[in-house]
Amino acid sequence: MTVHIGAKKGDIAETVLLPGDPLRAKYIAENYFDDVECYNEVRGMYGYTGYYKGKRVSAQGSGMGMPSLSIYVNELVQEYGVKKIMRVGSCGAISERVNVRDVILAIGACSNSKMNDIRFDGQSYSPTATYELLQAAYQTAEANGVDVEVGNIYSSDMFYQDDRNWYEVWKEYGVLAVEMETAELYTLAARHNIEALSILTVSDSLVTGEETTSEEREKTFTDMMEIALEIA
Ligand code: ADE
Repeated sequence: MTVHIGAKKGDIAETVLLPGDPLRAKYIAENYFDDVECYNEVRGMYGYTGYYKGKRVSAQGSGMGMPSLSIYVNELVQEYGVKKIMRVGSCGAISERVNVRDVILAIGACSNSKMNDIRFDGQSYSPTATYELLQAAYQTAEANGVDVEVGNIYSSDMFYQDDRNWYEVWKEYGVLAVEMETAELYTLAARHNIEALSILTVSDSLVTGEETTSEEREKTFTDMMEIALEIA
């Protein structure tokens, strides 16, 4: 057991799907896994291990934001030997290049987080995806007939900002969308020499104000999940 995960050594697979929402982890386990075991209920941050097409996979909630994700990823990697983490989450479009319901493969993540300022003493670090995972996800999306955009995203510490146009400068520099976790996932993956990729569905657009309905979120979530599971 670790501070935040109540699993024994060996309970967690080497490959973990990491949604922010623990109920998404439950949904993945109940709908896609065979022989499922729930290994964590601490703080309601559910974690499950099962089999997808014969491959042993886990699904673990990370919570919202980089501080929460950082706790789970540190413990998964350092205490449970996890080698490959795929975040499956949502994001808000900040570019006209992407629309609600699109799937984005995040090649890199800019951020306003202080975490890497602290780590790198004020110098900037470029958190990036694992190329092989990104390539496999792109090929799987094409084979499944799912349109994907590959590009840079922005990991924010703030969901609500006073300045509603804060994203304009990032949009001008080609950043596609905002979410709240990937920069820390990619940084920790590099630090611990594991593989990582964020696969994101666009749930809302800061540019147009459009939002997805819950049925639409369900459908795009399925597309994203199936890409992640195929390459697990
Ligand atoms: N995740 C989904 N939509 C988001 C938004 N608008 N801002 C930050 N994270 C998000």
